Amino acid sequence: VLITGPIVYPKRKGPMSRYTHSASWYDSVSAEPIYRVGRECAIPALHLQEGSRVLDIGCGTGLNFPLLLAAVGPRGQVVGVDRSREMLEVARRKTIHAPPGNVVLVEADAEQFDHVAAGLDGSGATFDAVLFTYSLSLMGNWEAAWLRATSLVRPGGRAAVVDMGLPHGWARLLDPAARLACRLGGADINARPWTLLERTAHDVQSWSFRGGHVQVRAGTL
Ligand SMILES: C[S@@+](CC[C@H](N)C(=O)[O-])C[C@H]1O[C@@H](n2cnc3c(N)ncnc32)[C@H](O)[C@@H]1O
Repeated sequence: VLITGPIVYPKRKGPMSRYTHSASWYDSVSAEPIYRVGRECAIPALHLQEGSRVLDIGCGTGLNFPLLLAAVGPRGQVVGVDRSREMLEVARRKTIHAPPGNVVLVEADAEQFDHVAAGLDGSGATFDAVLFTYSLSLMGNWEAAWLRATSLVRPGGRAAVVDMGLPHGWARLLDPAARLACRLGGADINARPWTLLERTAHDVQSWSFRGGHVQVRAGTL
């Protein structure tokens, strides 16, 4: 497992500092019983095969990695991009026994991500799929992150977005809890970043869980 970078970006206050100090206990407080459903839905929708290459943008501590690695196998590759070295360190420790090249971790800001500077293959759209789980709604310029990442996916490749929205219907009772979860995580609950995928991809599939709080979209680029 290789961590490339660091690529130096201006220090940020607010949401980003959360993912430096909280990295070591993130997995314990990340409410997986609520949010895991998003990963379990989105990752099969990427249609990964043995040997596929997949980008995980804002990969954090690598909670997607077991499912991604099971799909791409030992000859495939999972490239995780995150701007928090502390989160990547946790991901690195979890994947230490992966075969060489099976997992690559890139310390970079997804909004300004230069894949060549990050040491990745410079030959363009070489990924089969890209995944964003609970990360775009934290980014100031998620359109830029989407464009950069999807430009690295081959035509006909797949993309999936999992993110948090406001609950609806009966689940509006959960509204305060949903807002609190987003505030604690630094996410903008009104961002609705999956709309980008809806506008840009083909064959869009949609799922909604937890009364609309967990939104999943997948499609072909
Ligand atoms: C709520 S965590 C989600 C982590 C992981 N995707 C998951 O599903 O558990 C959000 C992650 O996005 C990362 N992140 C936020 N803004 C970023 C940016 N502009 N570039 C790269 N990573 C970013 C944070 O460092 C953090 O690790």
